[in-house]
Amino acid sequence: MKGKILLTRTLHDFALKELKKKFQVEIHTGKIPIPQKTLKSKIKEMDGLICFPYDKIDKEIIQSAKNLKAISTYSVGYDHIDTQFAKESKIRVGYTPEVLTDATADMAFALLLDSLRRISEGDRIIRKGQWKQIYGAYDYVGLDLQGKTLGIMGLGRIGKTLAKRAKAFDMKIIYHNRKQISKTEEKKIGVKYTTFNKLIAQSDIISIHVPHTKQTNEMFNMKIFRKMKNTSFLINTSRGKVVNQKDLAVALKQKIIAGAGLDVFETEPIKKNHPFLKLENIVLAPHVGSSTKETRVKMAKITVKNLILGMNGKKPTYSIGY
Ligand code: DGY
Repeated sequence: MKGKILLTRTLHDFALKELKKKFQVEIHTGKIPIPQKTLKSKIKEMDGLICFPYDKIDKEIIQSAKNLKAISTYSVGYDHIDTQFAKESKIRVGYTPEVLTDATADMAFALLLDSLRRISEGDRIIRKGQWKQIYGAYDYVGLDLQGKTLGIMGLGRIGKTLAKRAKAFDMKIIYHNRKQISKTEEKKIGVKYTTFNKLIAQSDIISIHVPHTKQTNEMFNMKIFRKMKNTSFLINTSRGKVVNQKDLAVALKQKIIAGAGLDVFETEPIKKNHPFLKLENIVLAPHVGSSTKETRVKMAKITVKNLILGMNGKKPTYSIGY
């Protein structure tokens, strides 16, 4: 008898085909994210689960799953899963790092470029029929990237890849991490380690690349914005909850910092009356860090592979905890 698996939404056809060869596949087609109540009831009889970063796979859900062997998330982030409880329950958890590193670093760099050169702002001006000034000394001027200090908060895979892009644009790169990388690697990548306080105070642009944990929850808040230069920018492609969004909206409105580029938000999608929507000095992206055709295919392949391995009692290729 084939094991039963649930997908909280559909994936590529090739992935479904592969999964259907091995399992009885149920795909949630209703409201997204799948309502907790529905998930809780469906998970009871499932042996495997494929989920997405907005699904809340908490203790209650895991406890309801009597036969669950594996959870495979279509994301590098896994803050939506109670991985500790999954481990205690001997449930394998797979995720999709590496394959999305370049795409996400590209996105962070795109937000940086857009913020400094005001591309989206210009696009809005043109579309609204408000393009009045041409080529004047002060018209729509942005900022050079060359010589600016980029502060990378969290120098993991994505942070390091972003550093490569920034180096090509002749930026100075400083970083803060829980652990300093080796001097040899620092030299190779062209980055300098610094304390969190110095990173905040010295960077012209800060790009966040830390996971969302109890420690990083709202680590960027008004207290921090006030320590940043009032000419500086904040880029976030990690998780929305790492930033206190209310504080950020105020900091941008009052020009406590100069601008921001965000791909992630506390609640996604953001509400129609969100204070960010009234600001010109913010670039908004709809959580598309890993969203390229090529990367999403690679992520689907790994998600499927991780699930199959986990269902067979093996460690997923990319696994968390167990
Ligand atoms: C992930 O996979 O967790 C990222 O948010 C992709 O953008």
